[in-house]
This record gives sequence, structure tokens and C-alpha cells, in this order.
Amino acid sequence: MRQLIAGNWKMFGKLADIAGFAAAVKTAPAGVDLLICPPFTLLERFAAALAASSVAIGGQDCHATAQGPHTGDISAAMLMEAGATHVILGHSERRADHGENNAVVRAKAEAAIAAGLIPIICVGETEAEREAGEAEHVVRSQLLHSLPSGFAGVVAYEPVWAIGTGRTPTEEDVTAMHAAIRAGLGAQFGAAGSAVRILYGGSVKPGNAATLLALPEVGGALVGGASLQAEDFLAIAQAALRG
Ligand code: PGA
Repeated sequence: MRQLIAGNWKMFGKLADIAGFAAAVKTAPAGVDLLICPPFTLLERFAAALAASSVAIGGQDCHATAQGPHTGDISAAMLMEAGATHVILGHSERRADHGENNAVVRAKAEAAIAAGLIPIICVGETEAEREAGEAEHVVRSQLLHSLPSGFAGVVAYEPVWAIGTGRTPTEEDVTAMHAAIRAGLGAQFGAAGSAVRILYGGSVKPGNAATLLALPEVGGALVGGASLQAEDFLAIAQAALRG
């Protein structure tokens, strides 16, 4: 399976950053799928700048309904209209900052799929949960309750304690968790579960990408901080070809 390297810009980036970044990522090697998820305000311009390339654009969240009186929210159809093909849902920052639970994430995923977007559903344990030996249980439960029936999107395993910290799980822990996720997807969706890409996310950098991406059942990376610099993002894309 081709690897997917997805950049999550979070609440960073300005209009002035788009042209240079887009020109750089257009030089990315073939053989790896690339996706940039900028803030909403940059989506349309970013999509236009990357129109002649194979680099896709995604949102970082969407509402669970198609339209309505929801101040500050954005619908999946609006993301599509701006040029998005994907949407990140259930990122731990949204689960923590906006109280999004599994049921909310599942409803958003249903809305995204109905609108034609590919959802990237984030799961991952906190440090306390890992220390308590609960990591796999927590992640299996998130999969069970966040993924709608017939799910054919992407899952991103992001240990909460690895996000933005420079810390990553051991190779053994990533391997074990990705195997557990694959098994969980099989139990939930049967044969279709084997087609779901499982990304690793949390402090992926040019220096550790090749190792992480070469691990079994790692189908790509969800990259935060290192996706803001085109050079680093491209280096991770290169690493995916070796992974
Ligand atoms: P990070 O973020 O790469 O900066 O750790 C990853 C993410 O939150 O998706």
C-alpha cells in the first residue's frame, strides 16, 4: 500500500506561506500520497495553489450536520467546496479542548462520508492510560465507538503524550499498537478492515520518519510541527518511499 504523509498545520500559517510551500511540495517524489490540512482560512487558496499537483488538501474538523445555526463551525460540504478531499476528525486536541467524545467524532465522520470526504479518525492513549497498561484497551474502544459502520477512511494512531513533545513510543510499542488496531478493524469491519490505512502520528520528524514508517502496519504519518516547513515535510515524504 502507498504511504500517506498528512500535514496537520493546526492553528499555524498565513496566506503568505502558501505559494512557497506549494511550489516546494510539488517537487515531492511520486510514489507517496501527500495531504496538507491547513486552517480553514487557507484552504481554498492552498487548493488552488496545488491544483495542478497530486498533493491533496484537507480540513482539520467539520460539524456533524450539513448546515444550521452553529456559530464558528464549518460543514463537510463547505470543506469540499473549498477544495478539500479529506478531513481530520477526533484529534486529541479537539477531544481535549472541545470535549469531543467518541459519539461526536462518529457523527462527524458520518457527515464527512455523506459529503464525500475521506475522514482521518485520530485515536490514542494518554500517558496515564499507557502507564496503567490501558493503552490498547483505550484505543480499541475509541475505534469501536468513533468509527461509523462501513468505515473506509483512514485511522491515525497518535499517542497523546507524543504530540508536540519530541517523544515517541518505542518501535515495539508502535508495532504492537498498529497490530492491535489492524486486528480491531478486522473484528469491526471484516475484510474491509484490512484496506484501512493506519497512520502513526506524534513527533514524526525527518530524523525518525524512516524508522517509524518501516514498521509493520504503519501506512503513513500524520505530521504536526514538522509539516510547517516544506523541507522537513519533503524529507518525511522521502522517508516514506524507503519505509
Ligand atoms: P506533532 O503533531 O507532529 O507536532 O507531534 C502531530 C499531530 O498532532 O497530529
